[in-house]
Amino acid sequence: MPVDRVQERLDALYAIGGGPGANRVGGTEGEQRAHDVAAGWMEAAGLAVEVDEAGNLFGRTREPAVLLGSHLDSVPQGGRFDGALGVVAALEAVERVGRGAVVAFRSEETGCLGSTAFAAAGPLPAFFLELHVEQGPVLGRRDTPLGLVTGIVGIVRGERIFEGPGGHAGTVPMADRRDALVAAAEYILHARATAASIDGAVATIGRVEVEPGFGNVIPSRVRLSVDARARDAQRLDRLVAELELEPTFRLEPVEMAPEPRAALRAALEERGLPVVELPSGAGHDAAILAAAGVPTAMLFVRSLNGGVSHTPEEESSPEDVALAVDVLADALRRLTA
Ligand code: HGY
Ligand code: MN
Ligand code: MN
Repeated sequence: MPVDRVQERLDALYAIGGGPGANRVGGTEGEQRAHDVAAGWMEAAGLAVEVDEAGNLFGRTREPAVLLGSHLDSVPQGGRFDGALGVVAALEAVERVGRGAVVAFRSEETGCLGSTAFAAAGPLPAFFLELHVEQGPVLGRRDTPLGLVTGIVGIVRGERIFEGPGGHAGTVPMADRRDALVAAAEYILHARATAASIDGAVATIGRVEVEPGFGNVIPSRVRLSVDARARDAQRLDRLVAELELEPTFRLEPVEMAPEPRAALRAALEERGLPVVELPSGAGHDAAILAAAGVPTAMLFVRSLNGGVSHTPEEESSPEDVALAVDVLADALRRLTA
């Protein structure tokens, strides 16, 4: 039963790293283990299995023009579905239809490293389809199992460093301090206020490193990670300017392409499913392929638990997942007919 096989494969990937949550961080043994397991499934499906120079894993039929897939790496203590569902569902669809190619891109969470290398090296397929959990509350609130992605948010990432004279926690008067961590804290509040002032923008400080990091020493150096997002290039530029960021990573906002989107829409309508269209606030390998000129479309599966993701609480129902695989396979049939 393909539905059981999809859940069994999600179980196998989720178990890697021993929990809590998914632990297959890009570049670690966990990601490699997932690629080894998926390569075995592709071989068992009779696909031509290949690993490119960036470590991306492909399973191809004799008609590989339509590429389907996602990523197998995860954030630490990540969710059961993020990335993994896209690869498992792509394999299911290609095996059912007998046409297309499956890909598991490397290190999506740490900057879409695999898909960026693939897009630069080519050759690029005719279409790319990615199935992914929504990782947000929209489909849940609209009480509908699947969603058609309109576009993917632009993302900038970088670091900010704050430095000041360290010192003894007990002997330096408050008026004499230039505490690096206080400066960093003021920046974090500035980042929050800046994003809140730009329509649809978000900003996140996910990692704070304090030196020397000892309780009775005034911090002398603080390193912050900055992740900021907006739906168009102008707002993204405004975030970069107002957050005084020198991005080490920038993903432009992209629109999904009409033809593959129409194939997903027809597959939804054929099944009498509502067509809810929504933008993606999460970044995806699909954004890299779309930016490289590959006509790309994404199908979202409803995220339960209010849409929480990047945590072990990420959840989607087996029924919604099974429906998503059916719709993905239908779209593949249409694009390869
Ligand atoms: O950060 C993101 O949006 C994605 O999960 N990599
Ligand atoms: Mn993710
Ligand atoms: Mn993802």
